Amino acid sequence: MKFGFIGAGKVGIAFGMYLRKKGFSIQGYFSRNHISAQIAAEKTNSQAYKKVEQLISEIDFLWITTPDDEIQAVCNHLAERKLFREGQIVAHMSGAAPSILLKEAQKRGCHIYSIHPLQSFAEIEKALKDLESTYFSIEGDLEKMHLIEALFKKLGNPIFKIATKYKALYHAAACVFSNYLVTLVDEGLHYLERIGIDQEEGFKAVLPLMMGTLHNIEAMGTAKALTGPIARGDQLTIESHIRILENQMSESVAFYKRMGQMTLDVASVEKLKDKEKIAALEYILKEV
Ligand SMILES: NC(=O)c1ccc[n+]([C@@H]2O[C@H](COP(=O)([O-])OP(=O)(O)OC[C@H]3O[C@@H](n4cnc5c(N)ncnc54)[C@H](OP(=O)(O)O)[C@@H]3O)[C@@H](O)[C@H]2O)c1
Repeated sequence: MKFGFIGAGKVGIAFGMYLRKKGFSIQGYFSRNHISAQIAAEKTNSQAYKKVEQLISEIDFLWITTPDDEIQAVCNHLAERKLFREGQIVAHMSGAAPSILLKEAQKRGCHIYSIHPLQSFAEIEKALKDLESTYFSIEGDLEKMHLIEALFKKLGNPIFKIATKYKALYHAAACVFSNYLVTLVDEGLHYLERIGIDQEEGFKAVLPLMMGTLHNIEAMGTAKALTGPIARGDQLTIESHIRILENQMSESVAFYKRMGQMTLDVASVEKLKDKEKIAALEYILKEV
């Protein structure tokens, strides 16, 4: 199988290097700026193409690793110029978009996929290391799915296969785990800042607590891992939190109550069975 890439950025280069490291050969790269293609080619022992038509004619599998907003335009442009060959595989690596973004390639007889690494690629060398333990989500044409599965089996990466209609929900989940986690940490650090603990020191102090919680979730799942005042049904403690937030950081009250309501739902699965305590906490956490 000959692989080619359009878009010699962080993901295109790191994933190309990863394929090569695992014994696959990369045919080459085309990018908006030829210098990027040259850098990618050097790192993957492949070719930098000045003409996209030449790259497409020499490969079986095209990875479009441009920014999300460019994927469809790049694909449509290749289709308009009738550069695709029947039977070629065309994939993009966006988490948000489904494979159908590549439908013009499908109309030309190609098999289309979205193949998303559940990983953040900020820096190429680190990404290359992280790829070893990265899950990939795969969505697209069933006909050649066995080839994609075989590829990832050889790479040694676990995969999820997801239905096209759930692609946006999958991406929403990834945002919750990654982006909203950042927001959650940011919110907690603001509370500590109000006490006079700066962000850097605050994060250092809470990291072991956060890591411990993650390990507990890993070991026993969310419902059993939950500890703290809501899991114990401590109404007075929760009331004191809301009171001080109303006094000191009123902009955070709505967030605290909403998270509290959701935490109460988790608590009632396993840890908190007393109906009176649940009702009292529901009342305290009610938004006004
Ligand atoms: N970064 C992540 O953490 C991450 C994680 C998972 C998935 N992804 C997905 O991976 C894909 C690539 O993301 P990235 O972070 O690697 O982006 P990136 O670093 O910005 O790289 C994109 C590359 O595409 C090239 N490009 C832009 N428009 C082009 C066009 N019209 N034709 C040809 N080449 C073009 C740019 O090339 P020049 O350098 O030549 O200008 C750039 O180097 C996206 O679909 C993204 O959603 C990213």
